[in-house]
Amino acid sequence: MFVQLQLILLSVRLVPLNILIKYYSISGNTKAVANIISENIRNKGHNVLVSNINEKESPEAFDLIFIGSFTINNGKLPVKTKNYLKWLIKDNNFNIPKFSVFGTGDTQWAYFCRAVDEMEYHLNKVTDVIGKLKIEQHPVNQQQKIIKYINEVMEAIQFEKN
Ligand SMILES: Cc1cc2nc3c(=O)[nH]c(=O)nc-3n(C[C@H](O)[C@H](O)[C@H](O)COP(=O)(O)O)c2cc1C
Repeated sequence: MFVQLQLILLSVRLVPLNILIKYYSISGNTKAVANIISENIRNKGHNVLVSNINEKESPEAFDLIFIGSFTINNGKLPVKTKNYLKWLIKDNNFNIPKFSVFGTGDTQWAYFCRAVDEMEYHLNKVTDVIGKLKIEQHPVNQQQKIIKYINEVMEAIQFEKN
């Protein structure tokens, strides 16, 4: 009985989710984080699409969307990130799935990775935001931090989906 229950729980947990990783990156740092997230989630058996901020897929095709952006000019959201959020939240009437936010920045600036907080703020008005990750510049030596973030987000979404 216990073994049967375990098998049922296991099979429920293994249902692959459709996940979009949307990012905006100019010099490659945020793109590198997006690729690490993508590789890790694919290895967990989920369907993943990684896509640049210029592409506009319907969010309704996904169970979860990660959105990543760098921060510009004293804590500002880049215009393209702002426009994407406007398209997503205001210009359409989408049924918006859960989101998770990430970004890269530079602690030499006054508002480190503030774009991540601003994305969270706007998205929280229309959906649940699960998890937030801020990375200093290139993620090359920050893999453990990223993997911890991914694991926490995936556990939270799978808990809700079951
Ligand atoms: C003009 C300029 C302004 C910036 N302003 C900020 C800022 O206010 N806060 C921050 O955390 N990083 C700031 N940065 C750093 C970038 O966000 C950081 O280098 C980021 O990793 C770049 O991402 P990308 O490689 O994906 O394009 C700024 C960079 C530039 C060139």
